[in-house]
Amino acid sequence: MIRDATAADLPALMALERAAFAADAQTARSMRWLVDRANSRFRVIEAPGGVGALSGYCVLLFRRGSRVARLYSIAVDSAARGQGIGARLVADALASATKRGDTVMRAEARMSNRSSRGLFAAAGFVETERLVDYYPGPEDGIRLKKQLERD
Ligand SMILES: CC(C)(COP(=O)(O)OP(=O)(O)OC[C@H]1O[C@@H](n2cnc3c(N)ncnc32)[C@H](O)[C@@H]1OP(=O)(O)O)[C@@H](O)C(=O)NCCC(=O)NCCS
Repeated sequence: MIRDATAADLPALMALERAAFAADAQTARSMRWLVDRANSRFRVIEAPGGVGALSGYCVLLFRRGSRVARLYSIAVDSAARGQGIGARLVADALASATKRGDTVMRAEARMSNRSSRGLFAAAGFVETERLVDYYPGPEDGIRLKKQLERD
């Protein structure tokens, strides 16, 4: 089941974040800011069996006056990867942005992140621009875009 994140999810979100991103993980403070932020859609998928654990999350950011949505971050628990959870989270994000009237979704990924680039390609994103030294390391990134269909 996909649902909106709440402040009660923060411990599980941070566990997922640290395991998925290691040195690139967001701080608890910025995660909380994302959960509380009005102009965002922060969605989670609960792990089977409950007890508060999460199988995945996805954060979509909007800007007032802009029709471009940004898929800011997505992660799936390593034990739950390869089962379509990432694809479900992306589909949910695309549906939210389309409903809001957005015309484009953009995202970024590390050049070396094959799973992320594969996930976005499978969802119909195209790679539009190389982002030199965009990530700590430093490492280049790649910008991805998807044109959204009208509802
Ligand atoms: C990227 C990530 C969210 C994918 O989640 P997932 O639940 O494993 O993805 P899915 O099972 O839904 O896969 C959907 C599609 O993505 C692509 N994909 C997923 N993992 C892949 C991999 N390791 N290599 C290449 N393509 C991959 C495939 O096209 C796949 O479709 P298929 O299974 O029909 O071939 C997950 O690997 C993850 O959390 N990685 C660590 C955090 C991260 O890098 N986040 C992205 C930051 S930009």
